[in-house]
Amino acid sequence: MTMISKIAVLGAMECEVEEVKRYLTNLQEQVYKDLKIFTGNINNKFIILSQTGIGKVNAALNCQYIIDTFTPDVIINIGVAGGIGKGLKVGDIVIGNSLIQHDFDVSVLGYAKGYMFTGADKDKPTKYFSDKNIADKFKSSLLNTVKENKIYEGIIATGDQFVSDKKLKEEINKTFNALAVEMEGAAIAQVATRNKIPFLVTRVISDLADGTTAEYQNVFEKETSQILAEAIKKVLADL
Ligand code: ADE
Repeated sequence: MTMISKIAVLGAMECEVEEVKRYLTNLQEQVYKDLKIFTGNINNKFIILSQTGIGKVNAALNCQYIIDTFTPDVIINIGVAGGIGKGLKVGDIVIGNSLIQHDFDVSVLGYAKGYMFTGADKDKPTKYFSDKNIADKFKSSLLNTVKENKIYEGIIATGDQFVSDKKLKEEINKTFNALAVEMEGAAIAQVATRNKIPFLVTRVISDLADGTTAEYQNVFEKETSQILAEAIKKVLADL
């Protein structure tokens, strides 16, 4: 890969973005169609940090705007997610090696759930792949601050739905072999792939997607966002 100097960091919610924003120098702010965009530096890298809003459409439109306006070398999507893989706990980190859209469903027409008419095998969900080089760097950087048994790598499932039901959680896990559910990753992955820009989607687990942690949700979202931002800061400087 050529020299990486411009990095877009996208997060859906204020708490996810705020924790990274603290590390930016030369901070500037702009707003595009209700979407907040910050620019600044971490070491010698130019960072475009954006609060996309929640859900696939918000994420996609924000991602395309950032690509067209700033031409980033790399896109990193951070945030919180519901843990649906075996053994996952609040505070664990998932590196999304691949992303699928669990709510893209034309199975009634004979396609696999998650198949998105990409021309690939119609019996399999469509997968978008994070850049392996960036994912590996992120993991080794994470190992400086996070214990290895709290780091997971695998499939992240995206959909326009906050999952808080045990049955649905198990169904998504079984159908897609996914470790985590969230609401933007695969949309950003799809847009980045279309634009041929390498990307990484990573999440910190804020709940177990079964309704059990709902009353603590806000606390967990803030605390867990801090864990991820701390790691992201190091990766951004090292990329
Ligand atoms: N983001 C954080 N937790 C989530 C959940 N349970 N479902 C979807 N998105 C999430």
